Amino acid sequence: PAALEEALSRLPGPLLVAATAGTTDAGLIDPLPEIAARCAAHGARLHIDAAYGGGLLFSDRHRTRLAGLDTADTVTLDLHKLGWQPVAAGLLAVKDPRDLTALRHRADYLNATDDTEAGLPDLLGRSLRTTRRPDVLKLAVTLKTLGRSGLATLVDQVCARAREFAALVDEHPGFDLHARPVISTVLFRPAGATDDTVAAVRRALLTDGRAVLGRARLDGRLWLKATLLNPATGPADLAALLHLAARQATLVEGHTPR
Ligand SMILES: Cc1ncc(COP(=O)(O)O)c(C=O)c1O
Repeated sequence: PAALEEALSRLPGPLLVAATAGTTDAGLIDPLPEIAARCAAHGARLHIDAAYGGGLLFSDRHRTRLAGLDTADTVTLDLHKLGWQPVAAGLLAVKDPRDLTALRHRADYLNATDDTEAGLPDLLGRSLRTTRRPDVLKLAVTLKTLGRSGLATLVDQVCARAREFAALVDEHPGFDLHARPVISTVLFRPAGATDDTVAAVRRALLTDGRAVLGRARLDGRLWLKATLLNPATGPADLAALLHLAARQATLVEGHTPR
């Protein structure tokens, strides 16, 4: 917030601030109320990328972490993450419908005024694209089938699994944990390993078809990334994943975990 305050004071307007609720690398949530207050003070627009974290809204237990989201002018959500949709499932929410005015752009070859006036439906004006798949159908089916509370259960489960996995990593003498998870992402690395070893462990597990881990560079080091999004994952799966990573680390040349 202090750096933002300094930038907003220095830069000429108009200004747009983009904050993140759930970073791709670590699932971190920006201090939204503090950012929103500074945007309001400087007349800057606020966009919040809640592609990952937005799904916490379903959960009564976790939604308070998104306090301040409602102050944004625009919010993006990606329900292919904490919404369990196949891609594409991105949504843009705007506070003021006038922000969508550009979509009303008319072109003779697309818009027939008399048809519109006669009430014929079309998808123009609903998206930046003209030709598009009915992506919202699967979302509607999920919401109708599971409801908000059904989705909340899934959110709570994967957040709990991430905390459990982080605890396993923390207790294991052969691994370093980056931090306690904020959402459902756990960053970890074999203790004392080089970045090359971390990268090699990930590639070996991936190419052998045993585990799909992500990778993230944070605090100057490369980390293995487990983004827990499968509610069916159980404690035994978590232990097995850590065991696989430990064994792979011992096999990679030049590194023997403590
Ligand atoms: C924080 C964040 N923003 C945006 C995106 C990209 O969204 P899309 O895949 O809809 O372009 C992702 C990844 O999907 C993400 O993790």
